[in-house]
Amino acid sequence: MCGIVGIVGTRSVALRLADALRRLEYRGYDSAGVATIHNGRLERRRAEGKLFNLEKALENEPLAGTIGIAHTRWATHGVPNVANAHPHFVDGVAVVHNGIIENFSELKDELLMDGAVFKSQTDTEVVAHLLARYIREGLNHRAAMLAMLNRISGAYALVVMFKEMPGTIMAARFGPPLAIGHGDGEMFLGSDAIALSSFTNEITYLLDGDCAIVTHGGAEIIDYRGLPLTRARQVSLATAYRVEKGNHRHFMEKEIYEQPEIISHALGHLIDFAQNTVKFRSDAIDFGAVSSLAISACGSAYLSGLVGKYWFERYARLPVEIDVASEFRYREVPLLPSQAALFISQSGETADTLASLRYCKDQGLPIGAIVNVPESTIARESDVVFPISAGPEVGVASTKAFTCQLAVLAALSIGAGRSRGTLSSEQEKVMVRHLAEMPRVMSEVLNTLQPQIEALSRHLSHSKDVLYLGRGTSFPLALEGALKLKEISYIHAEGYAAGELKHGPIALIDENMPVIVIAPHDRFFEKTVSNMQEVAARGGKIIFITDEKGAAASKLPTMATIALPNVDEIIAPMIFSLPIQLLAYQTAVFMGTDVDQPRNLAKSVTVE
Ligand code: F6R
Repeated sequence: MCGIVGIVGTRSVALRLADALRRLEYRGYDSAGVATIHNGRLERRRAEGKLFNLEKALENEPLAGTIGIAHTRWATHGVPNVANAHPHFVDGVAVVHNGIIENFSELKDELLMDGAVFKSQTDTEVVAHLLARYIREGLNHRAAMLAMLNRISGAYALVVMFKEMPGTIMAARFGPPLAIGHGDGEMFLGSDAIALSSFTNEITYLLDGDCAIVTHGGAEIIDYRGLPLTRARQVSLATAYRVEKGNHRHFMEKEIYEQPEIISHALGHLIDFAQNTVKFRSDAIDFGAVSSLAISACGSAYLSGLVGKYWFERYARLPVEIDVASEFRYREVPLLPSQAALFISQSGETADTLASLRYCKDQGLPIGAIVNVPESTIARESDVVFPISAGPEVGVASTKAFTCQLAVLAALSIGAGRSRGTLSSEQEKVMVRHLAEMPRVMSEVLNTLQPQIEALSRHLSHSKDVLYLGRGTSFPLALEGALKLKEISYIHAEGYAAGELKHGPIALIDENMPVIVIAPHDRFFEKTVSNMQEVAARGGKIIFITDEKGAAASKLPTMATIALPNVDEIIAPMIFSLPIQLLAYQTAVFMGTDVDQPRNLAKSVTVE
């Protein structure tokens, strides 16, 4: 979602701001802009589309100035165009904003009555108008900022410059993240530490309800009444190196091929590979004692949690309540302090997941987070963090974060099984040995699958609709396969539990419908093969993703069979994720879509 950068500098800032925006590209955006103050003038350049367009605008008409703010916008209110791009200017006030001002239409009506002229369709512009109005009415800039903050409601990270204060940037956070960077004689603001990583690694994170007044001399943090607050300064681990594609065509491809290496980082925190045991122990969540688990997340992270549900229930006999966070947060789920809650998020900033976390916290549950960004809000608000250590995931479609989340969930469910006495030490050792095999098997699969995937993807790229089926842990994988295909190739795809076929989706099957069946040779295999039979009888084209045993056992005609190595059930979901990811990726490549930044999607969804 939107990205924000600001610099109170000692040398020219425009190009440095544009460069910092590049680090926020992974969040998704559809327009961008930069503003500076120079010689008492507030000036800006804005452009629709990719950052390249903004860089071109800056090249054609450079911006001078040693103080500035910049923004990448992911449209919520108003189409992506130059007029709606930030920064928004009103009478010497410049504003960039991430989030949603929920009471904007009521404020806008009030401001219109007052004679304000709006130049954009955004909710953000009301903030600039409110500030301008309070200054016109005689408030000083700081008082105007506080008055504005006391009028708006919603979720926002706001960064503001005033033409008359050429050495100050003001900022506020309520919801989406915002960090202050402390440099040498210079100060910075950014949506996350990655945006600031080339400037400084000394960071202060703002909390909800914080307002910051940033000058060359440092940052003063106050609440909305103007009372002083103390916020810690910490050293960020965010890498200063821009993540590169290497020799891959897209970040998504790179991230798929990285999985054998990084999956072991994910496991490294939880597994003692020398002893073949789960080494995780936490005082915060006692998996041996909790009565049940509540899991909540969004998108692919939710689907990894759904696989986790099967594991926790089977291996640890631990009941799991799971829901997408956008529903969970409003369901008023009755919860008991004897339960524990787990939240899964690559970014650690997803608004709905964070709201669900806060709901569970209010109910007194211990909170665990499975996150990729260790300094994220979700991580910081949790009692215990299980890092997936996947490194920056740039492709909007989650790949390596998904399998690393699965790896962490697998390890946790084995650990929970041991704590609850439902798995013996011998079973633990066997399962951990299987987890340890994962990097090797993943490499093997990635090295051999490509030619077959290419042929199949060429075929899929001509399809209008695709159905994915699976049972057990392969059911969430069917959902993930469909999600991945639709988000990057824009082909309509649905995932179903194979047993649900007869209850509706079978009506769709004809000779034009590719049906991707995910079925390792596990205890559900025969049942899934019966469902395949039903598809075959109606002329459906089956792409069968199974293992060598499954390929040998099934005599059904298929359009193609992908036979993966035979692996234990505990690692099958991670291994079977690979062909699913590659099929979606390669299909999108054939269709010529913007694989890493598919239309309408954002990497970090910080509004609901
Ligand atoms: C799909 C995808 C999204 C995310 C979802 C949650 O490929 O990437 O569905 O999984 O937006 O994001 P995080 O994990 O950052 O909370």
